[in-house]
Amino acid sequence: MAQEDVFKKVVSHCKEYGFVFPSSEIYDGLGAVYDYGQNGVELKNNIKQYWWQSMVLMHENIVGIDSCVFMHPTIWKASGHVDAFNDPLIDNRDSKKRYRADVLIEEQIAKYEDKIEKEVAKARKRFGDAFDEAKYRETSPRVLEEQAKRDALHERYSKAMNAMDLDELRQIIIDEEIVCPISGTRNWTDVRQFNLMFKTEMGSTADGSMTIYLRPETAQGIFVNYLNVQKTGRMKIPFGIAQIGKAFRNEIVARQFIFRMREFEQMEMQFFIKPGTELDWFKQWKETRMAWHQNLGFGAENYRFHDHEKLAHYANAATDIEFKMPFGFKEVEGIHSRTDFDLSQHEKFSGKSIKYFDPELNDSYTPYVIETSIGVDRMFLSIMCHSYCEEKLENGETRVVLRLPAALAPVKLAVLPLVKKDGMPEKAREIIDDLKFHFNCQYEEKDSIGKRYRRQDAIGTPYCVTVDGDTLKDDTVTLRFRDTMEQKRVKISELRGIIEDNVTITSLLKKLK
Ligand code: GAP
Repeated sequence: MAQEDVFKKVVSHCKEYGFVFPSSEIYDGLGAVYDYGQNGVELKNNIKQYWWQSMVLMHENIVGIDSCVFMHPTIWKASGHVDAFNDPLIDNRDSKKRYRADVLIEEQIAKYEDKIEKEVAKARKRFGDAFDEAKYRETSPRVLEEQAKRDALHERYSKAMNAMDLDELRQIIIDEEIVCPISGTRNWTDVRQFNLMFKTEMGSTADGSMTIYLRPETAQGIFVNYLNVQKTGRMKIPFGIAQIGKAFRNEIVARQFIFRMREFEQMEMQFFIKPGTELDWFKQWKETRMAWHQNLGFGAENYRFHDHEKLAHYANAATDIEFKMPFGFKEVEGIHSRTDFDLSQHEKFSGKSIKYFDPELNDSYTPYVIETSIGVDRMFLSIMCHSYCEEKLENGETRVVLRLPAALAPVKLAVLPLVKKDGMPEKAREIIDDLKFHFNCQYEEKDSIGKRYRRQDAIGTPYCVTVDGDTLKDDTVTLRFRDTMEQKRVKISELRGIIEDNVTITSLLKKLK
């Protein structure tokens, strides 16, 4: 199946099976805002738990907080967001559509990369086992030509972005003959800066109100609380503070479903360290976070690091963990070495000392910070895209199955009475009443067993049990496995032991190195 089709199918599957709905749908929706349905919220909660527990339970020097969306507006002045949290935008005069100039150029770079990959794939097919890919990439005139174009564009683009040279960004779009995907024309406006923060008013009277912002990242809530946590928790450097919460950005281009939203959720951890040790810690957190992702079993080839050339104003090293989505490798998580930028800025703007007293050095200093920041919704999307599978069965039928890691699946066990009579529904409910304390169970009695299995496959339920006439005599049930569709007869008393170990977040955490 073409990757574009996979993505379209994932989007409609999310809606059809209660994972994600467009927000305010009966009012025709609201751009780039989505709601999570009954299955989506379970999957999302499981992702959050996997992250939270891997941070807070697995590290004795990491604790969590929950700070507010509303914060003092000077915080955003100090952090640089009021002045520098901008994207370069450009409009097409014919379609009246607005784009991010940097995204248009990055898509053009990706087109060159695509062409190279297609050439290599064609050659791989032509030469079979004898294919020497490295040599082909070094010598094929067509590959070299596309590579040269890609590299030249990349260099010019990086320079323009580093200098935030808006005229040059526009000129690149013109020179590369980039057209608007809607109108097909090159009738572009100038490039302008656009601040991404949402503003609102706090206070009831016109004179007494103040303009505040919806937070565009959760991180600042950690920075301004770091000394509270350090003192009340008697934390010693190195230590971390983790937080999960909503963030808001008025994205210019909000496309690709839940990949880029205006209201989204972040899981961020700030790790406070001694200045000078940041590059070692940066390396360590890169490895730790990549291991967390790969532990889900989606294959190492689907992840890569993308080290930043253009560093944000606060960072001295930065990388993204990218996942292979149906629309290419895309950022899911950012890892930044943020130096002492944020804490120093808050000291300056608040006029209060927030230095750490190091008892070992008998000295005070402003800690450096390594940040890991991951979007819950992007993680959700990557998991859905990778798990969605259409499978041809021996009988010629196709089944849609969500091969979710069992620990993340919304429902762990579906209990299905073969028929709605003869005491089977009561027996099925008895099983659920016993197991519901240990994992999420669902009761289903409508339609044939085959249809019910398909519905559970489609929401990724790893186990189904069928209660039939024999169950009432010998307390055994048919246990069916989602991925293999294998069925076996087991005692009801054995169910918990077979299932529990494979479906808990603990089972995932235990596999983490
Ligand atoms: N505190 C650092 C920070 O916010 P970021 O790279 O801007 O860094 C971190 O964001 C993560 O948040 C991204 O890797 C992405 O997963 C998620 N994210 C950012 N903007 C998003 C958006 N508009 N919609 C969904 N997720 C987003």
